[in-house]
Amino acid sequence: MNVSSVALVTGATTGIGKETGLALARAGHAVIVSGRREEAGEAVARQIRDNGGLAAFIAADVDTEEGVAALVAATVEHFGRLDVAVNNAGIALDTGRLADEPTSRFQQMLTTNVLGVFWGMKYQIRQMLAQDNPGGAIINLASIAGLGGMRYAANYSATKHAVAGLTRSAALEYATDDIRINGVAPAAIKTDILSTAIAAGTWDEATIAALQPVNRMGRPTEVADAITWLASPQASFVTGTILNVDGGYKAQ
Ligand SMILES: NC(=O)c1ccc[n+]([C@@H]2O[C@H](COP(=O)([O-])OP(=O)(O)OC[C@H]3O[C@@H](n4cnc5c(N)ncnc54)[C@H](OP(=O)(O)O)[C@@H]3O)[C@@H](O)[C@H]2O)c1
Repeated sequence: MNVSSVALVTGATTGIGKETGLALARAGHAVIVSGRREEAGEAVARQIRDNGGLAAFIAADVDTEEGVAALVAATVEHFGRLDVAVNNAGIALDTGRLADEPTSRFQQMLTTNVLGVFWGMKYQIRQMLAQDNPGGAIINLASIAGLGGMRYAANYSATKHAVAGLTRSAALEYATDDIRINGVAPAAIKTDILSTAIAAGTWDEATIAALQPVNRMGRPTEVADAITWLASPQASFVTGTILNVDGGYKAQ
């Protein structure tokens, strides 16, 4: 099947990725919904189709290079090309101060949050360069924790600093190839990712809400809308930017 604009969203079974898939479909993109959980991913793709959009679920684990390469290849096999990629799959496992964190948790976050994004960009960029009418837009999920320090999240923060570095550097490298590469830096958004820290007692919901000057957590749709704009022609002169979607967090 060939369609005019094809978007791939990793980690689209829940949270920000799910809402991004729905928003990109509303904006007219055919969407590949990806993630490891098949039932949840199929449900998101079905919701898009029920709303009149084009979508399919492709199961993929971003923890291996082969898995990510196969996901990009399967996307192109399904819809014929790749125009927008959102590297959203991510995990947050810290529960305390740096000296108490097991190395294994940091290693797991480095694999998913950093290598997963690197492999994503690597195969997405190769495809965007190779296809007829080359070019595209890539949006990576950074974080306000990737633009400064964050207590009880040193390892997660380090991985998101890496995402910011990958994003800005790749944007410079592919600026003349019509591939725009940007990131979004959300503050606390009410999704499952916060559950590890809340369950461990590191944070409670009211304390998390109060971190933002607006005194609430963000909604996944509020990040999805920013990503959809970065993917759109309205953002044609925007590359190498990390856009804060943070209820004023970084203005403090
Ligand atoms: N919520 C926040 O406060 C916040 C703030 C700043 C940045 N972010 C970033 O936003 C992104 C989305 O997080 P979220 O808040 O929406 O959390 P979420 O609801 O927990 O979603 C995370 C998604 O990542 C997927 N995922 C995790 N590991 C994966 C793997 N190895 N391979 C493929 N998919 C994987 C999960 O799907 P499966 O389990 O089905 O694979 C899930 O769909 C993350 O990169 C996160 O760091 C979130």
